[in-house]
Amino acid sequence: MKISATNDPATSIQADAVVVGCYAEGQLQPAAMTIDQATGGAITRLIEAKELVGKAGELTKILVPSGVAAMQVVVVGLGEREELDRRGAFQAAAAPAKLLASKPRSHVAFYLNDKWNADLVEAAVCGAMAGCQGQDLYRAEKKLLPFEQISWAAAEVQVLASGQILGESVALARRLVNEPANMIYPESFADTAADVAKKSGLEIEIWDEERLKAERCGSLLAVARGSKRPPRLVILRYNGGNKGDAPLAFVGKGVTFDSGGLSLKPNDSMKTMKCDMAGAATVVGAMEAIAKLQLPVNVIGLVGLVENMINGDAFKLGDVLTARSGKTIEVLNTDAEGRLVLADVLDVAVEQGAAKIIDLATLTGACLVALGTDTAGLMTNDQAWCDELSSAARLCGEAAWQLPMFPKFGEQIASKVADIKNVGDGRWGGAITAAKFLEEFVQGKPWVHIDIAGPAFLDNSKPWLDAGGTGAFVRTLIEVARGWRG
Ligand code: BES
Ligand code: MN
Ligand code: ZN
Repeated sequence: MKISATNDPATSIQADAVVVGCYAEGQLQPAAMTIDQATGGAITRLIEAKELVGKAGELTKILVPSGVAAMQVVVVGLGEREELDRRGAFQAAAAPAKLLASKPRSHVAFYLNDKWNADLVEAAVCGAMAGCQGQDLYRAEKKLLPFEQISWAAAEVQVLASGQILGESVALARRLVNEPANMIYPESFADTAADVAKKSGLEIEIWDEERLKAERCGSLLAVARGSKRPPRLVILRYNGGNKGDAPLAFVGKGVTFDSGGLSLKPNDSMKTMKCDMAGAATVVGAMEAIAKLQLPVNVIGLVGLVENMINGDAFKLGDVLTARSGKTIEVLNTDAEGRLVLADVLDVAVEQGAAKIIDLATLTGACLVALGTDTAGLMTNDQAWCDELSSAARLCGEAAWQLPMFPKFGEQIASKVADIKNVGDGRWGGAITAAKFLEEFVQGKPWVHIDIAGPAFLDNSKPWLDAGGTGAFVRTLIEVARGWRG
């Protein structure tokens, strides 16, 4: 998609549609006022009739308005002016983009800025791109058709460029999640990561099965054994900081399909399990953006890629695995596979010299029970590091909420036959017992675990986003890297 700045007045730009904004109580943005004047007060009349009130997310189309070159004007409600944050800006652009993408439209012009700061503009550009990306990768007739060109009024070129970089990374993460598991499996995911690395200037290292064996990744390999698709571990490196400075590490769960293994999932729970590599997709997306933005930081991204399937060689209940760290793990549920994969990837991250770690995983249904579908769970061994992540998430408008890591929860993963077991005692607090398991593998490094089982994947579309992969937390990770001071 081509995104360029424009200085044309909203009334004369040659576009298929012009998007303008209206704050609460019918307060029009400058471009909306220009349109209003040119149309002899069309918008004012709609406001007087309460057809248009400026509520956040409200969309009003004005077709073939006289005095305006574009075929239509879309007025988007922006809510209270003082309350507009990055989430609001994202949705304010995404919702009209989604509306307009329902038909082929080659050029859409956004006239939303009025003294918006760079962060809001970036978020809005990102939103405009996200709104027209659909999950229907394999439908002949697409429901959403991205525009060829977006024009943005009153924006600086560098801000548009960075907004586009964020938007492309979110799009990449969403596409990877939306691709079905017969297209994206460990090898093809790793190939895609290699492509991304090449294009964005990241270093990449891919561990195949042989290497994983040589590295004694017994926990990850056990999960992979039930599948014909061999596993991979991908390490992406970006060295934009001082030579020798310990890197920030992002770790992602990349279960390209989770059948549950012998602890087989019922049909309904399995239907969307192509999404179980969303953590890995988020990491690759964020790494791509960090490289393109040339941030002055050292970051490594590590993703563990497996398919959790069943064959005659699949790992079984009661099996005892030896993780890369040397810890032994009793498997009591093969559907608690994500933590087994991450156990070894976290160990590699520590060995690679990570200063601090963030892992992302669609780890537990329990996190959905605790926090619902839109909010990620945060669990940590280092409050200051978690606070840093929380504030990045808040700035980006990505919902996250911390869950406690009381030592008591750790007692639940004690095993009678091995060092630990891969499930707690019963279902309660399942998001936390999973995190307690992961904590065993970070060797005390400052670490935050983000359980994105809820927000990574939408079952139903929102007015501003199609259903499927959401790209949740790509922007938060980039924000963390932007604020990273070692
Ligand atoms: N991938 C699932 C978690 C999940 C559930 C992600 C729903 C997205 C939506 C994970 O591997 C899993 O199956 N977890 C089990 C753990 C249990 C067996 C301890 C779960 O949550 O039921
Ligand atoms: Mn599972
Ligand atoms: Zn899983």
